Amino acid sequence: MVTLSNPTKYLGNELEYLKRVLEGESWSATGGGWTNTLEKEFAKKLGSKYAVAFNSGTSTLHAALEAAGVRSGDEVISPAITVIMDSTATIHANAIPVYVDVDPQTFTMDPKDVAKKISSKTKAIITVSIYGLPVDMDPIMDLARQYNVVVIEDNAQCMLSTYKERPLGTIGHMASYSFENTKHISCGEGGIIITDNENYAEHVRKLGGHGFKNLKAEEGRVRLNADVFQNPNYKRHDMLGWNYRLSEFCSAVALAQLERIDELVQLRIKSAQMFIEVMSGCDYLIPQCTPHDRTNSYYTLGVRYEGFESIGVSWENFRKAYIQEGGDGIYGAWSVPYLEPMIATGQFNKRYPEIYGKLHYEKGLCPIAEMIQPKLMQFKTNYRDLSLAESKVMVLDRIIKKFKKR
Ligand SMILES: Cc1ncc(COP(=O)(O)O)c(C=O)c1O
Repeated sequence: MVTLSNPTKYLGNELEYLKRVLEGESWSATGGGWTNTLEKEFAKKLGSKYAVAFNSGTSTLHAALEAAGVRSGDEVISPAITVIMDSTATIHANAIPVYVDVDPQTFTMDPKDVAKKISSKTKAIITVSIYGLPVDMDPIMDLARQYNVVVIEDNAQCMLSTYKERPLGTIGHMASYSFENTKHISCGEGGIIITDNENYAEHVRKLGGHGFKNLKAEEGRVRLNADVFQNPNYKRHDMLGWNYRLSEFCSAVALAQLERIDELVQLRIKSAQMFIEVMSGCDYLIPQCTPHDRTNSYYTLGVRYEGFESIGVSWENFRKAYIQEGGDGIYGAWSVPYLEPMIATGQFNKRYPEIYGKLHYEKGLCPIAEMIQPKLMQFKTNYRDLSLAESKVMVLDRIIKKFKKR
C-alpha cells in the first residue's frame, strides 16, 4: 500500500484511482475509462449536457473558438484584466483579439464597452470570471444574440459560482475550465469544456482528438470495433485536429477532486471571507465587489490596493511587510495582455503577416484596466484547512494595525 508522508494537496481518492489506472489496460482517453467518467460526472455536477476533457484550459479555448466558427481575420472580444491565454488562443485561431475594459469594482468585463466594440466582424466573446466572480452575463448574451456571436465562458478560475441563481458555465454557448496546478480542481495540467450543444461537443472532441471520425459528443473512444479499426482499408480521420486529450492519470486525479468539489470550493470561500472581514476596517484594501446577484468561488481573493495614496506604503513594501510577518506571497495581476511584449512589440504579428501585419494596440486602450492592474493583489485562498488560513488572516490583521499606528 502506497501512502504519502506529506501530501501537499488535498487527498481523497487520488492515490487509489491512480493505482487503478496503472492496473488498467488503457492509460489514454481513447480507451474511454476514467476520462469518460470524469466527463459524465463533471457535466452532471455543472448541470450541462456534455463535457469534453482537454489537456489544458488553453487548448479548451482554442478548440472552442474553432468550433464556434472563428476563422482567419475574425474578431474575438476578451477583457483586459485576464491571463494571456485568452489572447493566445485567439491568435492561434488566426483571429484578432479585441480588448474591452473592466468594471473598477468587480474587475470583470464591462458590458458597456462590449457594446461599443462588438461589430459584424465579431465572431466570439470570451467572458472571464476573474478570481471566481461571474461576469454580468445577461447584457452580454443580449448582445451576442443581436450580433449572432458565440459566447465562451472562460471559467478557469471559477467553480460552482452562480449568476442570478443560475450555475455559471450553463449561460454561454460553451464554458471552459482549467485543472492547472492552482485551480479549484487540479491534476497538474488539464481542462474541460461543457456545453448543451451536441454539435459543439462533437466538434471540440474531434478537434482535440486528431479528428477521428468516430468521435461523438459523448464518445471519446476511438477503437470501437477492433475488426474495423485494424483493417488497412479503414479511413480514420475526417477533420483536421490536434492532440489535446487528457491522459487517464490526470482524469483519475481530477475525478477524485471533483468528488470533493463542494468542500474544496467552500474552503476557498471561507478563507476569503476571513480575509475580507479583517479588511473591512481598512480603507486601502478594497476586495473585489461581489454583486448581490452573483456568488464568488474565490479562486483567489482579488483586492485593489490603495495603500500608497492612503498610508504612503507602496504595493511592494506592503507585500514585503506581510511576508516578513509570516504571510504568504501576494501575486499581482498579470499585465494587461496588449502590453505584454509578445503583443506590444509586435512579435506575434510575424505569425500571419496578412492578418496581423498592421495590427497595433496603443497604451490607453482600456484605461480602467490599466489604472487598476498595478494596484491589484491576489490573496491566497487555497488552504488545506481553515486554521492555516486563519493564521495568515491574523498576520494581515497585525500588518494593518502596524501601518495604522505610524
Ligand atoms: C482565466 C484563465 N484562463 C485560462 C487559463 C489557462 O489555463 P491552463 O493553464 O490550464 O492552460 C488560466 C490558467 O492559468 C486562467 O486563469
